[in-house]
Amino acid sequence: MFTIIIKENTQEMAVAAFEVLREVLDKKPNAVLGLATGSSPIGLYRKMIEDHKQTGRSYKDVVTFNLDEYVHIERNHPQSYYTFMKEHLFDHIDIDLANVHIPNGNAADFDIEVKRYEDELNKFHVDLQVMGIGSNGHIGFNEPGTPFTALTHVEALKESTRNDNARFFASIDDVPTHAVTMGIASIMKAKKILLLASTSYKAKAIAAMIHGPITENCPASILANHPDVVVIVDKAAASLIADEKY
Ligand code: F6R
Repeated sequence: MFTIIIKENTQEMAVAAFEVLREVLDKKPNAVLGLATGSSPIGLYRKMIEDHKQTGRSYKDVVTFNLDEYVHIERNHPQSYYTFMKEHLFDHIDIDLANVHIPNGNAADFDIEVKRYEDELNKFHVDLQVMGIGSNGHIGFNEPGTPFTALTHVEALKESTRNDNARFFASIDDVPTHAVTMGIASIMKAKKILLLASTSYKAKAIAAMIHGPITENCPASILANHPDVVVIVDKAAASLIADEKY
């Protein structure tokens, strides 16, 4: 079930997103959080840091699981998702890095790595999964066509996704071709999902997710079957759904 919140801009989106997270953390200081990288959650992470500095809220008992990591990338590579999380969040709060889980993009054997990650995830129950959405409707790096039953696996990135992410690399040739990602079935186990999207570039994907049909061609469309999905969008991302009542 979708709860849709439409905001004027990304600053207001971040405030609303932090409200959702705060409710979870107030009830459960040792919450298990699913986290994402990319532009969409950056404002939320800023709010988390601000709140930590102002109120002293502690993250030392929080456990985190990131959705994905590029394949064949060193953990300390400037564009690894591990580095992203350190720079945008972990280095600025009191999280215990022992409680942080991010797939190993440099594993010697990815069959072992995907199983290890899924097994680790299954020892917990994600209270809140934060995520963005690709312009092609991907969630995590589950690209269109990925079975809804997929668990953590290695995914070949679509050219459109590589192009979208090329802005972070020197050239398109440097963008990894594969990623380890939680599967759609792994994501659907979260108790609550918080999906953030801004700009008109995401409008089609948001409309396809909300309006359906539920199809593997739009991985995010499966979220209609999840009991609790909060979607926070700016007006541009909501432009193809804005005249409807939710
Ligand atoms: C990142 C992830 C991706 C992004 C999506 C949107 O961990 O799982 O699904 O959320 O590609 O990226 P941004 O937010 O950069 O538009």
